[in-house]
Amino acid sequence: MKSFIAANWKMNKTVTETREFLSAFIPAVRDAVDVDIVVAPPFTALASAGELIRDTNVQLAAQDMFWEEKGAFTGEISSAMLLEAGCRHVIIGHSERRQYFLEDDAVINKKLKAAGKAGLGLIFCVGETLGEREANRTFDVIRREIEFGLEGIGAGNLVVAYEPVWAIGTGKTATPEQAQEVHAFIRETLRKLYGNSADSIRILYGGSVTPESIDRLMACRDVNGGLVGGASLNPESFSKIVCFKKAIKET
Ligand code: PGA
Repeated sequence: MKSFIAANWKMNKTVTETREFLSAFIPAVRDAVDVDIVVAPPFTALASAGELIRDTNVQLAAQDMFWEEKGAFTGEISSAMLLEAGCRHVIIGHSERRQYFLEDDAVINKKLKAAGKAGLGLIFCVGETLGEREANRTFDVIRREIEFGLEGIGAGNLVVAYEPVWAIGTGKTATPEQAQEVHAFIRETLRKLYGNSADSIRILYGGSVTPESIDRLMACRDVNGGLVGGASLNPESFSKIVCFKKAIKET
């Protein structure tokens, strides 16, 4: 299956910084094969990034969107706005949206439905907090996030990102064993929803991914890509992640 590696820049990079990044990054990944390469700049930089990536192998994603098509929703951004800026994908349900902006499973489900209807690819994030892991609730949390979040959503155009909250921005990457255990559980949960189509859904790992950790993570059977925050802000380190060493998948 084709890998999928996405940069989530969060609230980083102006238009000028986005241009600088892309002018170094695009040539560095020109020869990368068998990988979907995605960058998700902040809203303000999407349109200029969209121009710069045209006719390259880099694709554009947004970090969020609203579920209504238009209207009196001050501060919000619609799917049509993202599509016009050149986005092919949108990240929905990132743990920072859940934590700081109080997005719950119902909100996330509405956003996924609206994005899917508009034809955007969905990068749907799930993951447990440290407290939930320590209370042995990891699988319950992930199951709930998937079942409620994906209610009424088809398997086509869907990518799921497993991002343990305790690993995000902390420098504490999950071990390949920890990642594989949860990815296998996610695959099994997706099979209950989608049958065999679940086998072609890419499941990304996110949480302190670096050029040093990517190879071993990608060697796990159910890890099909990465969602990268901190290490995606530098074109050199993100291009190294995109060009990870492909090994035979461990069983
Ligand atoms: P990180 O962020 O790589 O900085 O841990 C990942 C994410 O939140 O998507």
